[in-house]
Amino acid sequence: MSKKDIIILGIESSCDDTSAAILKNEAILSNEIAGQQVHVSYGGVVPELASRAHQQNIIPVVDAAIKKAGISKQDIDVVAFTRGPGLLGSLIVGTSFAKAFSLAMHIPMVEVNHMKAHILAHFIDDATKEKPQFPFLCLTVSGGHTQLVVVDGFDDMQVLGTTRDDAAGEAFDKSAKLLGLPYPGGPLIDKYAQFGNPVAFTFTKPSVDDFDFSFSGLKTNILQFIQKQTKTQPNFVEENLHDLCASIQATIIETLFEKLTSAAMHLNIREIAIAGGVSANSGLRSRLELEGKKHDWKIHIPKFEYCTDNAAMIAIAGRYAYLAGQFAPQSISANPRLKI
Ligand code: KG4
Ligand code: ZN
Repeated sequence: MSKKDIIILGIESSCDDTSAAILKNEAILSNEIAGQQVHVSYGGVVPELASRAHQQNIIPVVDAAIKKAGISKQDIDVVAFTRGPGLLGSLIVGTSFAKAFSLAMHIPMVEVNHMKAHILAHFIDDATKEKPQFPFLCLTVSGGHTQLVVVDGFDDMQVLGTTRDDAAGEAFDKSAKLLGLPYPGGPLIDKYAQFGNPVAFTFTKPSVDDFDFSFSGLKTNILQFIQKQTKTQPNFVEENLHDLCASIQATIIETLFEKLTSAAMHLNIREIAIAGGVSANSGLRSRLELEGKKHDWKIHIPKFEYCTDNAAMIAIAGRYAYLAGQFAPQSISANPRLKI
């Protein structure tokens, strides 16, 4: 191992995934994730159960990441952790672990903003992909957030638009719940949509000023539509599941792209990225490819494993904080409402 190599341990615990990753310079050596099945029967993440599961998972996950990377814990130069935004009880587990690790190993620690990290995942080494050039525009779509972000540098980001109510991932998950699908329903809507007709049903798209989004009206629209249809056709949802999924997905994607396209034109930016859990959606990914060709954009689609929550993105974001000398003190605390 060359002396100039920087090895970073990344820790992610903002919601319901406990993850640890080892980054050597800009290459990922390991990225371990422990999901939490405990929430499925509740139809959503239960904060108290999430933080308890993080406490159980954190040490085995870090241990697995170190072993898989083929290093020893003494090789780690810095520990990077998610400070926020997220669930307080969940964030506290990762933050406390990072503090203890930093203290015990006599190494510095750096704090990471989870939403910035989703975007910076594009800078992880990948032989099959080019890294984005600044400035670029990123549509970050996850279970908790929907943001249009102008990215001028690793630590220079401005939020141009955001959701006024539900996030895009929430729109997927809440729609799925109305169709009787288990949590999280986003990936299932994606799966069934592939066999359905996206113009079979029409749902209303919100009209919101500027570059902001709104998704709360969609679930009301779907609920009322299903109630009306099932009056005359009790098995309406089961018999039309694929078309319903395809139509719901198409509505969400259309809503997102209306704003993304107008923001790109307004700013005259042709370098466009997507990030966050919903960027795993196959319809969204192919729509970006299509729009990219149409508008002559240079597009950036994350690898599947870096779309949903993971510590690899925390480690790469931590690398830039470390190189900029932005160290976190032992007095730092988790911040559930941390802003970009
Ligand atoms: O980024 P993420 O893992 O966690 C947050 O920071 O919120 O995003 C999770 C969200 C969930 O709402 C999940 O349903 C959604 O991403 N998601 C998808 C897909 N995969 C994950 N939504 C639609 N299609 C997918 N393939
Ligand atoms: Zn996330």
